[in-house]
Parts: sequence; structure tokens; C-alpha cells
Amino acid sequence: MCGIIGYAGLEEAAPILLDGLERLEYRGYDSAGVAIFTKGGSLLRVRAAGRLTNLHARVLEQLKAGADLHGEVGIGHTRWATHGEPTEENAHPHRSANGKYMVVHNGIIENHAALRKRLQEDGVVFASQTDTEVIAQLLESNDTGDALETMRRTLPQLEGSYAAAILYNQTPDTIYCVRRQSPLLIAMNETGVFLASDSAALLPHSRQIYRLEDGETAMLKAAQTRFYDGAGTEIAKTAIEIARHVTTADRGGYQHFMRKEIDEQPLAVHRTIAPLLHQGTVDLGEAEAVLRNFEDINRVLFLGCGSAYHVGMAGRVVVEEMTGIPAGAELASEFRGFAASIDPRTLVIIVSQSGETADTLMALRLANERGARTLSIVNVEGSSIASESGSVIYTKAGLEVAVATTKAYSTQLAVVYAVAARLAALRGCEQYRLRPFIHALHTLPERLDETLQSTQASAIAWAEEIHEREHAYFIGRNLDYVGAMEGALKLKEISYLHAEAYAAGELKHGTISLIEQGTPVVAVCLRRETAAKTASNVEEVFARGARVFCIAAKPEAKAQTIVIHPTHPLLVTSLAVIPAQLLAYHTAFLRKCDIDKPRSLAKSVTVE
Ligand code: AGP
Repeated sequence: MCGIIGYAGLEEAAPILLDGLERLEYRGYDSAGVAIFTKGGSLLRVRAAGRLTNLHARVLEQLKAGADLHGEVGIGHTRWATHGEPTEENAHPHRSANGKYMVVHNGIIENHAALRKRLQEDGVVFASQTDTEVIAQLLESNDTGDALETMRRTLPQLEGSYAAAILYNQTPDTIYCVRRQSPLLIAMNETGVFLASDSAALLPHSRQIYRLEDGETAMLKAAQTRFYDGAGTEIAKTAIEIARHVTTADRGGYQHFMRKEIDEQPLAVHRTIAPLLHQGTVDLGEAEAVLRNFEDINRVLFLGCGSAYHVGMAGRVVVEEMTGIPAGAELASEFRGFAASIDPRTLVIIVSQSGETADTLMALRLANERGARTLSIVNVEGSSIASESGSVIYTKAGLEVAVATTKAYSTQLAVVYAVAARLAALRGCEQYRLRPFIHALHTLPERLDETLQSTQASAIAWAEEIHEREHAYFIGRNLDYVGAMEGALKLKEISYLHAEAYAAGELKHGTISLIEQGTPVVAVCLRRETAAKTASNVEEVFARGARVFCIAAKPEAKAQTIVIHPTHPLLVTSLAVIPAQLLAYHTAFLRKCDIDKPRSLAKSVTVE
């Protein structure tokens, strides 16, 4: 959602804060701001609506005008609006009425309205429409002269989720922070201490990352950082080491991160599955623990949101076909309605790139409460979902900056195939079925690379044809329907062209009424077992004037066709998504959209 950065140390804070916000901008980019303790001890704030470049310009203006923005302690924030328009007044940091407290926040204070009303009745004048300002005003109304004590009195009054960094004007060398549900990480090096809502902003400073757990607070000073548990008792924390392959954000000559990350998929998938494959068998390493007494497992349930949910949709087909175990996939945000049937014999597989998606984290907690075995497939090491799952398998996609996921999605699919293969082996799956499946998984990186090379030109041509349309439909059956779902999501989320996916057989039960002359329909027909049926659905839309584009194993007479030869029927989802990603990218490019930072989206949605 939002990006939080903080620094207390020996160096100028402003450049560090602005650089950190740049690395976090993909988390939210409606507005941004910084607050810095000047060398003179006063607390100055600079904010700007819109992109981070506007804040940079504002800081330069202030410096030129003689503002004393030179200080070594400060906090910053880049916002994805939840309460209040994306204006300068609603930009963080938010200040208490008398300037004692300055706060940046990521999350939602669910009882903000009642608290605001009570404070206003006490005469407090608010300057913004945000829930975050309530935190600053409440701190000041509860001020005890000791910020930690004031926080201990204030935080229990807040309902909802928050990661917050706080400055108190009585202690100009200190940053206070607290975490509840929304992530907050801390790193240190010889120049000082850093805090951020995502390791992307910390990696240039250190790979040793401390993660605050729910309820924990911390007091950060240049020379010393102290951690406290929910009861206010000082605790010692152990840092986690972020793997070398996780690099900081660098476009590497590409115009957009998304295009770079599309190309990174073969290597990312190779890096992810290599540790799991051993001479033609699969070993899940430490995650094998979740499969102990595997014969007790009588159900597999995938949970996720957005593209991660689509991975689960593919996973349920692959697991059922390879193991015979009943499998399902649910939207994490809908899971509360399905949890009643979850029990210790259920293997719940949580899929999440960020490992911080609130809907998915809440679903995981519910699955844990019901005693299910939980295995998460996560890209960000040490994230909340990874930490709270029974077992975790990390994808090795590296830092994924573009809001629209590509390489993380492909690596998640690869891990799902590996888990299905392992489960199948444990269940005594015949070698004549298992061996080709694992071989196809082993050669998947090469197939992805070939597909990237062979489909780019057609995807560009298709984009030329559809980029001025208003609506598009993606159809497919079984695993090809999953490919259609991901293709529709990619297209609409970055090009703002309305795109919907439909089970090919379902279109004729209503939605086909929307097909008009020239309506683009992308038909995914890679799976041999269902391609013939989808071909009939292609005829149905063609007969109503649709402009049909096929992603298929063989040319379609009435449609422009991207031909891809699947190596295994259960891996078609991984191949179909490549031209779909390229189609989305080039359509968005032609529509002059902000490809890496689509409007209203954020890389990690840490509010429910
Ligand atoms: C994917 O392109 C979207 N940006 C979005 O649907 C994303 O997949 C979803 O928000 C889940 O995020 P997660 O994988 O970090 O949990």
C-alpha cells in the first residue's frame, strides 16, 4: 500500500529518505512527504501531491528558499490513498495540532471516525481527511513527555492495521515505530539505522533485516536501536539475511521494469526450481515438514488474491490430476465463508508475491486457527505470510518492481508444479506419468525463453489491432481458462482497456450478447484435451463478428494464431501467459499508460 522510510544517523537524512521513497514508489504514488529534524532541533515537513518527482521539486524549492532541511533524522512516506483524496493536505507525514508529533502510517485505522469526533469535541482542529492524522492528534492529546509511554497509552485505542513511524519534538535524535499487521523492517550499518515498509529500500544499506512482529515497537537512534514487545519489555531480535540474488530496483536499460521482468522469467524460474529438483525427483527441502504423515492429507486448498489466486486455480487442476487428492482454490478475501470445512487434514497452500497482502494474511491466520497444514509460496523473505506459515517455499524471482506481476507469477506456478510432483510421488503416482511431468518442469525455463522469443512480434501486432478498443474478452477451458484469467488481468490493470476472462463454455450462457462486430476475443487453446471444444466457442464468437486471436498448439483458420507447442498438458498455463503479458505491455505502451505504476494500484495491498 504505502511506503514508509526512516533514517537516524550520521549522514544527511533528506537524500536517504528521497532515495528510499523512490525504491518504494511502486507501493503507492498518490502523494509523498518527508519530515526532518533540522540541526537546529526544529521539525520541518515537506509534502507534495502526485508523483515523487513533485516532492523532489518541492524539497529543492525549499532548500533554494533557505529552508534548513539539513538534519540527520527523518521519516518519509509515499501514499496509496485509503481515506481522503490524494492532495498535499492529505499527504503524510501528518502533524499533531501543536507540532509535538509527526506520523507516517501504512494501514487503516478502522475506528478513526469515532476517535476524530472525540478529539474534535475536545477542541482539536484537524488539517486533513485522513485516518493517519488521528494517530498524531491522539498521541499529542495523550502526551506524557515520554514518547514510548505516550505510545503505550495511545496504541490500544487504535483498531485496525498500522505500521507507523513517529517523531516527537522533545527527542530530535529519535524515531519511534510500531507494527500491527502492516509490515515494518529495520536495518543498520555503520552510518546509522534505517526503517522501511519493504526491504527494497533497505537493501542498498544492509542485507541484515530486522522485522517487527505484531505489537512490537522500536526506538531508533543513530548509535542504538531498542526493540520492545507489546508489553513494553525490551527484547532482543535476530536479523534475517536477504539473499544475494535479491537486487535493488534497477531498470537495466529497459524502458519499464515490467518489460525487464517479463524477460527475467526463464532465469527466475530456473533459480526457483533448481534447488527443488534432484536427478529427476523433487525434494521440497525444509518444506517437506508440511507433508509429514502425508497420507492424512485429504484435501488441498489454494488461497491467494489476483494473480496469486490464478496460480491457485492452476494448482488445483495440476494437484488433482497428478495426485487424485480433491483440490480447490479460493479468493483469500472470500475465504472466511469457506473456512468451516478446513481441518488438520487440509493442506492449505498460500500464494503471495509480497507475503504481506492483508486479505491473504488474514486467510492464513484463519487456516492456522482451524489447524490446517499451511504451506506458503512467497517471494519476499521474512515477510509476514512466510513467517506465519507452517512451511514456506521461497520463489527466487528477485525484486519485482512493476505492480503487474510477471516473473513472480511464473515462479509461483513452477513451485506449484513441484509441490504437485512431490505429493504425487508420495502418493505412489506411476513413473510413466511422473517422469514426463518432472522432465517438463526441468525444461520449463528453456521453453519460457523460446516462447518469449517466438511470440513477441505477434503480441506487438495484436496490440496494434486492439489498443484503441474499449473491451476485450479472454476465453479458455480448464487450465487454458486460468491462462485467460491472467491474460485479462494483465491487460486491464496496465492498459485500462476493459478485459474479462470467461470459461469458454460459459460465454454462450449470457455474455456472448456483448460480442459485437470487431470485439477482440483472445482464445487460449493450448490444452489438447479441451482445445477442440474451445474451437467451437471460437466459431460462436466469430459468427457474431468477433476479431479472434488464438494462443494455440496449432493454427486456427479464422484467427490470428500464436502457435506454442506445450511440452506437457499440465504446464500450459506457464506458456500461455507469455504472449498475454507481452500483449498487455505493448497495448499499454500504445495507450501511453504508466506501465510500472498503473493508476489506483499498489504492489502490495496491505489493507483488507
Ligand atoms: C497482479 O498483477 C496484481 N498486481 C495483483 O493482482 C496481485 O497479484 C495481488 O494483489 C496479490 O499480491 P501478492 O501476490 O503480493 O499477495
